Amino acid sequence: MRNLVAAASVFFACSFAAQAMEGPGMEEDFWAIASQSESAETLNAFLEAFPDGKHAEEARAMVDEFAEDDRRREFEESIFAMVGQVTYDAPLSFGNEAIIGRSLSNITELSPIYPPVEGLPESYWKNEDCGSCHQWTRADLCTQASTYIEKKPVTYQSKQHPFGGLLKINMRNWAIGGCQ
Ligand code: HEC
Repeated sequence: MRNLVAAASVFFACSFAAQAMEGPGMEEDFWAIASQSESAETLNAFLEAFPDGKHAEEARAMVDEFAEDDRRREFEESIFAMVGQVTYDAPLSFGNEAIIGRSLSNITELSPIYPPVEGLPESYWKNEDCGSCHQWTRADLCTQASTYIEKKPVTYQSKQHPFGGLLKINMRNWAIGGCQ
């Protein structure tokens, strides 16, 4: 559906550009479409039609942002590909000291290295094993891991508990592979 809308707006945008329509009304109408399109192609078509228009600067900034997003996604995909398949019982080969060589099946016997809530005094969590706050079954861990497929990878770092963002990359790949 979204692709269809994008295709329709590119088509619309190109025919606008081809006809080189003029007038402030037209520019505003076209901008309304281009600015909502989330498509670099539509924005470029807009820029072709109105290179010096009053929305040109904003349109260029949006095109740059899309390019930046693409680069970031490519980078993230290359990390996911490098980490490769993760299974429940196999030792993790990617991560930090706390998890390398451990498997997802036994990290739940450890204590977290980051607090569940920012600023929580160490006495509450530092030497506690997961079981004192959670009951992680394999199925629950899989459900949690699946949430990382949808989340933007940049957010993995923002909540470090229990072992940092690198664990979440492993969990995400485990979930993508069907939690084998
Ligand atoms: C002191 C209690 C406590 C201990 C010990 C603890 N956790 Fe947590 N954990 C929490 C709380 C509370 C949250 C929810 C934090 C939130 O939603 O912001 C949480 C959230 C999580 C999450 C979800 C993080 C995310 O990305 O949203 C994971 C995964 C997790 N814990 C795994 C573990 C594992 C594995 C261990 C053991 C190594 C562990 N926890 C030990 C309290 C604890």
